[in-house]
Amino acid sequence: MLEFRKDDLYIENVKLSNIAKEYGTSTYVYSKQQIVNNYESYKNAMGAKEGLICFACKTNSNGNILKILSELGAGADTTSGGEIYRCLKAGFDPLKIVYAGVGKTSEEIEYALKSSILMFNVESFEELVAIDKVAGKLKTKANIAFRINPYVNPDTHSYIVTGKKDTKFGIPYEDAIKAYLTAKKKKNINIVGMHFHIGSQILEVEPFIVAAKKVKKIIDEVEKNGIHISYIDCGGGLGIKYEPGDKVPSPKNLMSKLFPIFDKDKKFIFEPGRSIIGNAGHLLTKVLYRKISGRKSFLIIDAGMNDLIRPTLYSAYHEIVPVKKTGAKKVKTDVAGPICESGDFMGKERMLPLIEQGRYLLVTCAGAYGAAMSSQYNSRPLLSEVLVDGKQTKLIRKRASYKDLTLNEIE
Ligand code: LLP
Repeated sequence: MLEFRKDDLYIENVKLSNIAKEYGTSTYVYSKQQIVNNYESYKNAMGAKEGLICFACKTNSNGNILKILSELGAGADTTSGGEIYRCLKAGFDPLKIVYAGVGKTSEEIEYALKSSILMFNVESFEELVAIDKVAGKLKTKANIAFRINPYVNPDTHSYIVTGKKDTKFGIPYEDAIKAYLTAKKKKNINIVGMHFHIGSQILEVEPFIVAAKKVKKIIDEVEKNGIHISYIDCGGGLGIKYEPGDKVPSPKNLMSKLFPIFDKDKKFIFEPGRSIIGNAGHLLTKVLYRKISGRKSFLIIDAGMNDLIRPTLYSAYHEIVPVKKTGAKKVKTDVAGPICESGDFMGKERMLPLIEQGRYLLVTCAGAYGAAMSSQYNSRPLLSEVLVDGKQTKLIRKRASYKDLTLNEIE
């Protein structure tokens, strides 16, 4: 949904420089159409298979974004009571909400049960005991799947691998059957599914297939013991194209290989996050200063690691483009923010035109884990967010003020 028309970069039918002028910088900008297209590509790949596409709302939990997805019929993958709250507020059907996470508190469990969500993705034996207890107190039954760690190590950043041995996630592969047999004996537990999620920003289908085959073995064993598995929750993790050379598998590539592994009667859940919202959102920033330091050239912009932490935290690459074409000579330059840390950069050694102060740059594909992971570090108020729909723009989060910085402090 990004396109140069003559010299100006547009998102849908709106000139990005106009958004910068109207709403100020830095600001996150999202394309509604891109979100719809991304969701539809999952929905179409599902075809007639029964199941749910549950948006992993940890990637972006702005209520307006969530509402677009709930209105499209999506479900939600949540990781906290707060996320369940946001999703209910945005109109998601509770029966389309799944809840994973290694550290669910009993208050969160109670909230989820009272909200009648579809299922808990349980990550330890002690969590099972806790859920059983809270469900008993509420005189209800909790629907659960176990999150199985299939011991598969996809090729991605080490901080976002979850499906390999010795991580904190899920039930260790060798304990999976024991977990189901234990759950079968619990009075207030109703087993409905099996879950696996191996990591994020995965650019090959193969690791999903290896994991699915391992999970299938467990399902067979569990079903021999009289436990029926209705839902197979395959998690999220499909990557997106950040760098020009990245090759990205489609939901169809993935599903067409996954479905034949399992019996026909199974219902499927997918939990995509990044591949729904990642390329639909971008960070619009302004060049504050240009400087040369030693042998290096810098563009200092008004967005920092507090606004988008991915480059700092994961050495993640985000393409950076001026929103207006210029004839200025391209030089190798670092793009850095205003935060007092050397790790505060958006891009290193990029070939960019040495554009003037006050011009705008777009840090692309920042819709996932961008605003959601932002903070007020260096006492920088949280950014505004703007949703574009055709020719229309809508402010979906106003820029925070200095007053907001001290909101909950007690004098
Ligand atoms: N399901 C579960 C259980 C997850 O833990 C995650 C992501 C997802 C689904 C969604 O995965 P996706 O489709 O977005 O890859 N902050 C990191 C990524 C952390 C991923 C956490 N879990 C980043 O900025 O790259």
